[in-house]
Amino acid sequence: MRFDILTLFPEMFEALEKSIIGRAIDKKHLEINLTNMRDFSKDKHKKVDDTPYGGGAGMIIRPDIVFDAFNSVKTDESKVIYLTPQGKVLDQQKVKELSNYKHIILLCGHYEGIDQRVIDEIKPEEISIGNYVLTGGELPAMVLIDSVARYLDGVISKESIEEESFSNGLLEYPQYTRPENFNDRIVPEVLMSGHHEKIEKWRRYESLRITYKKRPELLENAKLTKEEREYIKNLKENK
Ligand code: ADE
Repeated sequence: MRFDILTLFPEMFEALEKSIIGRAIDKKHLEINLTNMRDFSKDKHKKVDDTPYGGGAGMIIRPDIVFDAFNSVKTDESKVIYLTPQGKVLDQQKVKELSNYKHIILLCGHYEGIDQRVIDEIKPEEISIGNYVLTGGELPAMVLIDSVARYLDGVISKESIEEESFSNGLLEYPQYTRPENFNDRIVPEVLMSGHHEKIEKWRRYESLRITYKKRPELLENAKLTKEEREYIKNLKENK
């Protein structure tokens, strides 16, 4: 899978060279191509932005610069995304859907934004990473790439994806490792029993309990057995 990133701050993406994503790039599961939109400025000072018509704070990125940068990377099968707080908030379902594309172009705004006409021309899907405002789309683009890359073949184990929070609509059960006794807190006995069925069941019920406690709204869409629903009902009543 290939990401083309249109940005005024390509240096910010160095963070992706580390750890799991860096390894995915080295192993060619993932390709990331950075385009500095400033290279498309026709101005001798490499200016890319200007003051807003109608007045107001900040600078707006010119539409012609974004359009030329976009045309230099787009193909017939590109999916185009504009990172903006006005977009739909990214969730695990969207992440999974995006992992099926061969080519995604990420448009990162900075300053007060991008001239509306180029957004109307390109018609990107607008995605936000949460209900707060950042200084630009670069960190959101990295969040999106990191979350999508985890689904690509060879990046992390299938097991990790199946076990993690959200993948089955619930939060993940708690995990433990050595030592068995830490400050008199002992690892739950069942996890040391070697009894796989019991462990699976314990983990499933812990997932339910934690989801109920921390994100009860997630239970509305989760697929639960009758017995599991009964368990949740008991948790509610024993509050
Ligand atoms: N740009 C600025 N804030 C953002 C956000 N929350 N999500 C996506 N892009 C942004």
